[in-house]
Amino acid sequence: KKIAIFASGSGSNAENIIQYFLSKPEISVDSVFCNVAEAYVLKRAEKYNIPTFLFNREDLKNQEKVLQILQERQIDFIVLAGFLWLMPSFIVSAFPNRIINIHPALLPHHGGKGMYGMKVHEAVIAAGEKESGITIHYINNQYDKGDPIFQARCPVEAGETPESLAKKVHALEYAHFPRVIEEILQNLKS
Ligand code: GRF
Repeated sequence: KKIAIFASGSGSNAENIIQYFLSKPEISVDSVFCNVAEAYVLKRAEKYNIPTFLFNREDLKNQEKVLQILQERQIDFIVLAGFLWLMPSFIVSAFPNRIINIHPALLPHHGGKGMYGMKVHEAVIAAGEKESGITIHYINNQYDKGDPIFQARCPVEAGETPESLAKKVHALEYAHFPRVIEEILQNLKS
């Protein structure tokens, strides 16, 4: 099974997933797609000789470029790991129930639509939540609204800062994301 990872930033989740599947013959990270030229995730992929594809909003709009590469490479599954744009509906339709995302909070959560990064942790703390965590969910055509697959929780303690909460949430991401992907792919009807 071949995974394509979409990411926009540092790519610590992407690297964690790449490493996890290095020891699993059935599943591999085939390629990394990115919309930010200087994103560190590109450097991480290159370390493992994984092909990277950089695209911009224009490419994503004209359906040929990105979708064609995904189909040519016979990608079975798409993982969003810190990808900050909405997946275009033509890609979502071409990969029904085959695109998942990880959100660094317990959806449905407080805060504005499509928040990301520190803003999510700030919103959780500002809302006085007693816990936060991660939500892994399918992608559909509404941002962060796809069917939930897995959640893991961590406490929000007195004096919690967005940075300290981010650290706990990242730990949950690294502990669970690769295994959840593996479980889905093992049950995927080819
Ligand atoms: C993670 O916190 C993930 O939950 C969110 O974006 C962040 C990506 O971090 N979707 P990284 O680029 O994997 O380090």
